[in-house]
Amino acid sequence: MPVILSASILSADFGHLADQIHMAESAGVDWIHVDVMDGRFVPHITMGSFIVEACHKITGLPIDVHLMVEQPERQLEAFAQAGAQNISVHVETCPHLYRTLQIIRELGCRPGVVLNPGTSAEWLSSVLHLVDLVLVMTVNPGASGQVFIAETLVKIKKIRGMLDATQQPALIEVDGGITPVTLPSVYQAGARIAVAATAIFKNPDGISTGIKQLRASVDD
Ligand code: DX5
Ligand code: ZN
Repeated sequence: MPVILSASILSADFGHLADQIHMAESAGVDWIHVDVMDGRFVPHITMGSFIVEACHKITGLPIDVHLMVEQPERQLEAFAQAGAQNISVHVETCPHLYRTLQIIRELGCRPGVVLNPGTSAEWLSSVLHLVDLVLVMTVNPGASGQVFIAETLVKIKKIRGMLDATQQPALIEVDGGITPVTLPSVYQAGARIAVAATAIFKNPDGISTGIKQLRASVDD
């Protein structure tokens, strides 16, 4: 299966957001990734559901929402109504994870569960059948432009093994420090969806080149 590329607009030029999204779409990106930060679970405050709504008007591509917020259950309906296709929540923020994932599905979205680099794969064992996505953070959440944490490869392989052993269809997504150098290693470990901000929107040769370089690193 070819890699699904999810372009994180966290590194986009917000003065030209529509142009930047159109460029990414023309260059063949698959999803638009929206990083929602609340200044509590992670230090920065970024975007809310109105940005998802704006993206949804700009493009027909699926919107991949990554909630880095405390009490994400309070936000699900707003993001679903704004047009999110995927809504992913952190294990670390969800005392009622099972229910939160069920609600995302009931709202008509595809549920995803996210693990920080310091959170082990075992946290997933009771919820793998509820999700379409397992998002493995390959940097500490909170900012784009960080260095890929190579130790996460072991966890990706472990989760791939857990999904195979229980014949669950969820796909593994990775987020943070993804470049044409690191993408082959996460793909090899079992990830099939890759989020990238810097490698796409800050590529010195442009957005289109960034996307082509990422794809060329794994699609032979
Ligand atoms: C980090 C965000 C990422 C971030 C990735 O907390 O979840 O989606 O935008 O940025 P890069 O690709 O630059 O590591
Ligand atoms: Zn993200």
